[in-house]
Amino acid sequence: MKQTLITNIGKLIGVTDKPRLCGMEMADINGLDNAYLLIEDGKIAQYGTMDTAPEHADTIIDAKGGIVMPSYCDSHTHIVYAGTRDQEFLDKLHGLSYEEIAKRGGGILNSAQRLHETDEMALYEQSAMRLEEVMRTGTGTIEIKSGYGLTLEDELKMLRVIRRLKESYPTLIKSTLLGAHAVPKEYKGRQDDYVTLVCEQMIPAAAHEGLADFIDVFCDEGFFTVADTDRILTAAAKYGLRPKIHANELANSGGVQIGIKHKALSVDHLERAETPEVQALLASTTMPTGLPGASFFLNIPYAPTRQMVNAGLSVAIASDYNPGSSPCGDMRFIMALACIYMRLLPEEAFNAVTINGAYAMDAHQETGSIAIGKRANLILTKPVPSVAFIPYAHHTPYIEKVFLNGEVL
Ligand code: NIG
Ligand code: FE
Repeated sequence: MKQTLITNIGKLIGVTDKPRLCGMEMADINGLDNAYLLIEDGKIAQYGTMDTAPEHADTIIDAKGGIVMPSYCDSHTHIVYAGTRDQEFLDKLHGLSYEEIAKRGGGILNSAQRLHETDEMALYEQSAMRLEEVMRTGTGTIEIKSGYGLTLEDELKMLRVIRRLKESYPTLIKSTLLGAHAVPKEYKGRQDDYVTLVCEQMIPAAAHEGLADFIDVFCDEGFFTVADTDRILTAAAKYGLRPKIHANELANSGGVQIGIKHKALSVDHLERAETPEVQALLASTTMPTGLPGASFFLNIPYAPTRQMVNAGLSVAIASDYNPGSSPCGDMRFIMALACIYMRLLPEEAFNAVTINGAYAMDAHQETGSIAIGKRANLILTKPVPSVAFIPYAHHTPYIEKVFLNGEVL
């Protein structure tokens, strides 16, 4: 058995056995001052105050008063893509909206074209670079979607790249089939036929190869309707794929309610969510997930997460790292956005990107908090004055070490 002991932890935060934190609970950091944490074979084995710390271990790491916390759980990303879309960034600066760029064949269809021209190996290499980038900034668990394939072959190509990332990295990775991300050009005017392709070919093929953990649909104005979403989620349920869907980003699309009807793990974006959506979420176990990186980059409203937490809901925050609407997967910055623009307290933002993020990708049994038996996916900070310092000084290199399965990155 391999033991690593972390001593002299100024604050051990995120200590909880709960699957998620709701409403007022989110303001509680669940911390322990002057603590130790013992890792055995990659798992959290023991923790407590320094006066009760074990004296021996194979490796001892002195935290020198730094914070130890669970690593970030980023429950919504699209990091498998080919090339970049910085040209569309310029289009946006020249006044075009996200919807206008999409209508011109840009946006998701532009990424689909590039992905089609990129072979699986090159796609893997580009994606692995992005994964390594976010690992260094403290992400230990991540959900990755397909959705730039839009043909059976290319969607499977994306999912195979995700599978290879799962096999190659110590990060805990969940994969989501997002065949219904946009209607490809060839199906223009035949949206129903494309939905049929998703239901009758993509879902069975992905399930057959065990390539997808979840199903997603971009249920929004100009993309997929509530009826399309209903069909797709019904087809996916037969294969045990739980939904995590894109909802209410561009319009009040009805996405939240259809997601809840299908017992979605999460409904994400929610920039246009209002009181009926909050009420519907309160009666469900679905995790509302805010993506402040997309609001920031697209310059659109932020999801009303403050109101949601005040209403007693559990909320997760994720990066949405993708080439078109959130080209940033750094959860340190995403947390800062959640505080500054969504008015979450630092403690609430912290819980939103750890335990609640883990819940939003059904990973809370394994990660997302300090609890005995969970993976030792941890961040050790340099000595910092407070928990608030983390989103406050988001560009200060405060990370001293990242641990994945107990190993220092
Ligand atoms: O989550 N909203 C839809 N999908 C992505 C954006 C994808 C893209 O523009 O490439 C999102 O924002
Ligand atoms: Fe997204």
